[in-house]
Amino acid sequence: MTDSTQTFYITTPIYYVNDRPHIGHLYTTTVADVVARIHRLAGEDTFFLTGTDEHAAKVVDTAAERGMSAQAWADQNAEAFRTTFERFGISNDDFIRTSEARHKAFVTGMISDLVETGDVYLGEYEGWYDAGQEEYVPEARAAEHDFKSPINGKSLVRRKEENYFFRLSAFSDDLLAWIDANPEFIQPVARRNEVLGRIREGLADVPISRSGGGDWGIPFPGRSDHMIYVWIDALINYTSTVEAPERRKYWPANLHLIAKDILWFHAVIWPAMLMAIQKAPGREWMKLPRQIYAHSFWIRDGQKMSKSLGNFVDLEKLDEVVEKFGLDALRWYLLTQGPLGTDDGDFSDARFLAVYNSDLANTLGNSFHRISNMTGRYLGGCFEEPSSDPGLRARVEEILGDDRRAPLGLGGLSKGLDLVRAIDAFIEETQPFKLAKQEGTEERVAEILYSCAETYRLASLLLWPTLPQKMEEVWRRMGLEEYTVRLADPEGPGLADCMAWGGLSAGASIEKGPPLFARIQDE
Ligand code: MSP
Repeated sequence: MTDSTQTFYITTPIYYVNDRPHIGHLYTTTVADVVARIHRLAGEDTFFLTGTDEHAAKVVDTAAERGMSAQAWADQNAEAFRTTFERFGISNDDFIRTSEARHKAFVTGMISDLVETGDVYLGEYEGWYDAGQEEYVPEARAAEHDFKSPINGKSLVRRKEENYFFRLSAFSDDLLAWIDANPEFIQPVARRNEVLGRIREGLADVPISRSGGGDWGIPFPGRSDHMIYVWIDALINYTSTVEAPERRKYWPANLHLIAKDILWFHAVIWPAMLMAIQKAPGREWMKLPRQIYAHSFWIRDGQKMSKSLGNFVDLEKLDEVVEKFGLDALRWYLLTQGPLGTDDGDFSDARFLAVYNSDLANTLGNSFHRISNMTGRYLGGCFEEPSSDPGLRARVEEILGDDRRAPLGLGGLSKGLDLVRAIDAFIEETQPFKLAKQEGTEERVAEILYSCAETYRLASLLLWPTLPQKMEEVWRRMGLEEYTVRLADPEGPGLADCMAWGGLSAGASIEKGPPLFARIQDE
């Protein structure tokens, strides 16, 4: 890889280590995984980070209830997140834990520097504290919510303490100017407008340390009776992970993917901290991330998922789905039905089955089955001479567009599906199964089937980031195993040359096999 290779750095939130992984965590991480795969395919030097946020006070309490040390409890649960993501095919390049020495050292250094620049100072704070979120709620917002948590509805408590503060109030104008000048910085647009509105209401300084909470956390530099507030510690993970010289090239991150619940920290507090720290010597590299994208929430059967309702799509449920439909089917549902925009996404068994049967079994699976079946029957499984139908080829060009990079992005998945639908329409129109029964049609039948197979090959490339297992199976059956290596090679040409029409050469064969996605009947 040359120095000039474009880099792409994507992050997920780091998840509270006290939780068990559920669909919400898996969703954000899976979307990030698909995006990371898309950028790797495009030949970019990609770095994908996820991890765990471990210094919440709750960790200490839960550990104590179990007669464990906070560290042992965090170790156990961080491992559960790490192995879960591995099991669900997530291709993260690192997994950061905030209790690791590499992270703590970086946080300590950064906070010391912020004291130096004058952006962190000692003061006293009194306000409305949301114990569930471990955050103070501004006076106006607390009043608006009747002094209940805007997140979980529990009563806020009045608290007073000596704290170190971050001078957030000094950054209002700079933040507004930045958001204004960079329309892509906060997305979707509705979230951007929310943030702008709240900044215009005025920014108060934020407490970033707390005392009397025991020794679980990162001590405030030079004041070991104070711990750095968990949210401040957590946000810094995005930079502590890429501090090392060989990883610096990844910063600024291209995308912090999060959900709407933690937008304020990412879109206001974090950028302001970065604006502040850039003034410190040697910290010039700590620029603002390029984009913060906040998706919405999964709900279940039309209802909010909550601990009290006990209706979380938990790990057991997710495992069941994978057992029955396969991992790629779960990824497909998450990506196509998920809350990527501002609407919530509904997880329902009936909907899952309907989407599975229509998109995967009846379209992607069935189309491959028809092509491989007819190629086996009429052509002995192999294309002697590539010959293309101009009509289908034109349709393919129309779907893909001129720019061979255009089909990338999350839209690639629907373009892949469109290509397969075009194959189906073409088969309906040309009826190769009827033609094959007539004399003197061999060449035309071969042309039709080659064109279908070639279109499917192109679709498989666009579908791979979302359906890696199944598309690798398709490549195997088409004799394109080398794609797995070739496309992953950072030195290689990436996707571009594979996206040209005609990749299946003379002598290419297709193997029939069990259905890629077996049709599943409603029980
Ligand atoms: N530890 C903080 C984040 C610190 S980042 C510097 C935290 N952790 S969390 O475990 O609560 O994870 C919150 C994130 O999990 C959300 O922003 C979202 O990415 C994901 N989700 C949790 N529940 C979700 C849904 N019901 N639906 C979709 N995603 C949700 O906040």
